[in-house]
Amino acid sequence: MLLNAETGKHPAFWWSIYTLLSLRIPLLSSKVLLVPYSTWHVPRYHEWMQDEEIQQATASEPLSVDEEYAMQQSWRQDADKLTFIICQQISSPEPASAPVLTTESDSPQNMVGDINLFLRVDDGDEGDSPPQIVGEIELMIAEKSNQRRGFGKAALLVFMRYIIEHQSEVLEEFVSRGVDDVESVRKLREAGPLAFECFSVKIGQNNLRSLALFDGLGFDRLSPEPNFFGEFELRRTELGVQRVVGELGVAGVEGYGKAVYTRRE
Ligand SMILES: CC(C)(COP(=O)(O)OP(=O)(O)OC[C@H]1O[C@@H](n2cnc3c(N)ncnc32)[C@H](O)[C@@H]1OP(=O)(O)O)[C@@H](O)C(=O)NCCC(=O)NCCS
Repeated sequence: MLLNAETGKHPAFWWSIYTLLSLRIPLLSSKVLLVPYSTWHVPRYHEWMQDEEIQQATASEPLSVDEEYAMQQSWRQDADKLTFIICQQISSPEPASAPVLTTESDSPQNMVGDINLFLRVDDGDEGDSPPQIVGEIELMIAEKSNQRRGFGKAALLVFMRYIIEHQSEVLEEFVSRGVDDVESVRKLREAGPLAFECFSVKIGQNNLRSLALFDGLGFDRLSPEPNFFGEFELRRTELGVQRVVGELGVAGVEGYGKAVYTRRE
């Protein structure tokens, strides 16, 4: 095994730390700022998740604060997840530069929700289909006072653009560190460059506003009937970046870019 003489770490260790840090960076736009979910976001997030309506809409169980901190660490480090906190944008972004954020940028009063990507390998109900990578999205704008103000759509489009533009790094990290099944990894690599089959979302059949949001952005229902859990699965297979750029324009979301954040956990 090749180890660095000074640190005793395998090069893959440093590569995984590099991708972990380089993929989890703040994203800017004129409407929302997305920041990697960090420890200082947990108290506000925990407060949101006490709301029964939110628990129902997001199919979540209430957690203790300690469990929430443990969850934050797992979401931050696992190779099969990307989790961002959505904040309202408080200053106009300058696309030409990478602005440096302040602690106010994602302070509790500017946090409005969260958006997550969970990666999984789908090889059919019987496990005998060629493996495909599905990116499942979850989205929440927590407080009623912040809903219907365009934050959800803006966050979804900014997030999709980022994931599509960084598809190869996101999937390389997932396949190298997040998939245990060696045979699936072999088949995925043999099939060519790693790529998403689709983005997917699962939405309760009565959550009409969320269904309207995803329907309106090219997510199609897999089946006309909800599943056993009363949810529809919707999928978007058109993952060209130009289409998302066009949708950002139609939604009036400008100034997409990356930001620099010096605060560390
Ligand atoms: C569903 C949710 C994500 C929408 O985000 P939002 O910021 O409130 O929505 P936006 O203002 O960005 O609206 C985007 C689209 O959603 C749909 N929508 C949002 N609120 C709606 C409402 N009250 N009635 C009907 N459609 C609605 C519309 O299609 C809208 O597009 P339009 O403005 O062009 O008509 C948000 O309300 C939420 O998180 N609710 C609670 C948790 C939840 O349901 N999460 C989704 C689980 S998958």
